[in-house]
Amino acid sequence: MKKIKIGICLLMCSALLFSCKTDKKEETMPETTEQQAKKSGIIKADYGTTPDGAKIEKYTLTNEKGMKMEVITLGGIITSLTAPDKDGKYEDIVLGYAKKEDYFNGNPYFFGAAIGRYGNRIAKGKFSLDGKQYQLTVNDGPNSLHGGKGFDKRIFTAEEVAGANPTIRLTYTAKDGEEGYPGNLKTIVTYTLTNDNALEIDYEAVTDKKTVVNLTQHSYFNLSGAGKTILDHELQLNADRMLPVDATLIPTGELKPVAGTPFDFTTAKQVGKDINATDDQLKKGGGYDHCWVFTDNNTKDLRHVGSLYHKTSGRYMEVYTTEPAIQFYSGNFIDGTKDSKTGGKYEKRSGLCLETQHYPDAPNQPKFPTTVLSPGEKYTSKTTYKFSVK
Ligand code: BGC
Repeated sequence: MKKIKIGICLLMCSALLFSCKTDKKEETMPETTEQQAKKSGIIKADYGTTPDGAKIEKYTLTNEKGMKMEVITLGGIITSLTAPDKDGKYEDIVLGYAKKEDYFNGNPYFFGAAIGRYGNRIAKGKFSLDGKQYQLTVNDGPNSLHGGKGFDKRIFTAEEVAGANPTIRLTYTAKDGEEGYPGNLKTIVTYTLTNDNALEIDYEAVTDKKTVVNLTQHSYFNLSGAGKTILDHELQLNADRMLPVDATLIPTGELKPVAGTPFDFTTAKQVGKDINATDDQLKKGGGYDHCWVFTDNNTKDLRHVGSLYHKTSGRYMEVYTTEPAIQFYSGNFIDGTKDSKTGGKYEKRSGLCLETQHYPDAPNQPKFPTTVLSPGEKYTSKTTYKFSVK
């Protein structure tokens, strides 16, 4: 009898223990991706494998207000960035391909990418440093554009950075001689999505040989969400001069005042207002594809340099940078062949880039601010895109 009682007791105890265990298991059940995505923070996921067999990761950063940014380790590419309109509706405001293959097979428009080692063009892909001539990969007519097979096509190592705002640090080390450039160049691009709806981008680079560096970001903005073009966006740039270009889009060396020309954005103006004006520079660029020099270009301070406004949605983006200039590219070469993530194809001028930077072809133009980086020095640069509504 005693034995039976003990047996029942043991059975009940183990049943109790088991049920406690089950309960506990339920309490610690991992959240679904959907549950997690609603909270601020960072989620890491697999993005896929490139044709060369490299595994790509995707990081989703969400801030406390619900703004969300997706970044992949290939090219440090921002594949998506949401921002609220005047009714609080969040929509994706950067262009991105519908198909991963378009990222994996070369990202022809440089959508969303971190650009290096030299953003923009270097004439004939040639420059000299200390009497030695370097030949870079030529990939844009006779010139080298965005570093040849640049950082946009390389795989970065990603680390989450602890702090009040979701932050991700991407590192890529370009080899000495890669694409023709001298020096092993360690580059760190840090993206922070702040809780007051700003995307902060911090760049750092160090080299072990004298080299040239000009880093930027190549997101195409369309603040309307899924609008067809950016011609109705109002742009303002604190820039009183621009760099005229030759037929291959290399600066002639002149710094031309914008006053009285279609290039005057010193007060806000619709992008489409003068884009079809009869103008030799607009003809050469097929629209706007030029470098504007900030009126206040002799500082390394982070300051307001321009803004972009889309009236219908109310979305407003302010640009701050430590850089002396900006390439405003009105998406003229987008040719209707790539599937858009919002449906249909991306047409000419469906997005615009505001690429903060040093001047194009500076390694060949001694009058332009230098882009030379020497061993022992640290390249630093910061750009902030701040989102709000008006
Ligand atoms: C350049 C354009 C080029 C584009 C590539 C821009 O930075 O200024 O000329 O076509 O990048 O997507």
